[in-house]
Amino acid sequence: MNKAIESIKVSKRFGEVVALDNVSLEVNRNEIFGLIGPDGAGKTTLFRIITTLLLPDKGSMMVLGLDTHKQYRELRKRIGYMPGRFSLYQDLTVEENLSFYATVYGTTVRQNFELIADIYSHIEPFKKRLAGQLSGGMKQKLALSCALIHKPEILVLDEPTTGVDAVSRKEFWEMLKKLKEKGITILVSTPYMDEASLCDRVALIQGGKIMDVDTPRRITEKFPRRIFHVSSDEMHRLIRDLHQFAKTDSVFAFGRYVHFTGIDDEVETSELDKYLSDQKHTNVLVEEIGPGIEDVFINLMGQQ
Ligand SMILES: Nc1ncnc2c1ncn2[C@@H]1O[C@H](COP(=O)(O)OP(=O)(O)O)[C@@H](O)[C@H]1O
Ligand SMILES: [Mg+2]
Repeated sequence: MNKAIESIKVSKRFGEVVALDNVSLEVNRNEIFGLIGPDGAGKTTLFRIITTLLLPDKGSMMVLGLDTHKQYRELRKRIGYMPGRFSLYQDLTVEENLSFYATVYGTTVRQNFELIADIYSHIEPFKKRLAGQLSGGMKQKLALSCALIHKPEILVLDEPTTGVDAVSRKEFWEMLKKLKEKGITILVSTPYMDEASLCDRVALIQGGKIMDVDTPRRITEKFPRRIFHVSSDEMHRLIRDLHQFAKTDSVFAFGRYVHFTGIDDEVETSELDKYLSDQKHTNVLVEEIGPGIEDVFINLMGQQ
């Protein structure tokens, strides 16, 4: 059976900027595949090529066994795309947006309503409201309904949870799981590293290059070092002092904590604890933790 997506050595530049650099990637049918990377990594460019809106400079892109260049017409009917922004008509109401998208794809809301019924039920009470006046979470649900109204086999979602509150984010991922159960392949990008664990597989992208592709669990299992979560009352001094510790490999701030890795696996919690107490830190907390996707990311970036 065909892969859902097969990117073969795809490159794309904009003037001097290399947005995608030799990207090869396969997405299986019916998986939730996450593209994880910071701003400017190349996520949107890759999605625009997958959805036939942009041509690669080099390489080829096959989606559902079709070439995105030569067979874009057929492909467009079978892909649902939710771009990061501006997919909704702000001065049309909720129901007008939905029927607009249905019409564009030569279908009707009624014909495919079953697929979106669950999602649409959240926004139906506001169906007469202008899209521009919806909350972030409701806009996201409407945009998802619009991307699904022609019953696509693949759903491509560009940062659907960016700028959306935590509750709506959680609801959104639950909706994606249900869509997967209906047989839809889902490709989703996110800058939120914690969302990686909700995907079947993820690709880490940075500077237009794919750095790794695997299940979220295997990606973190490959992390080569032990990680310690460290905090004290004085964050800035903590970072400085840790950098001066003889056995330090890396020190990164994560909000109110620091992630520390040592030059070898011999460094112990008690040793760090003692060192920081000697430096007169108060409320010192040192704890060994399992690596997260962020740690892997920082480590891979350091290697580049
Ligand atoms: N239309 C464009 N013109 C010029 N540069 C672009 C264009 N689209 C994207 N870029 C550049 O390509 C790189 C990748 O961008 P993008 O694919 O939007 O990344 P992401 O979606 O991960 O934030 C960035 O450096 C961006 O500035
Ligand atoms: Mg983007």
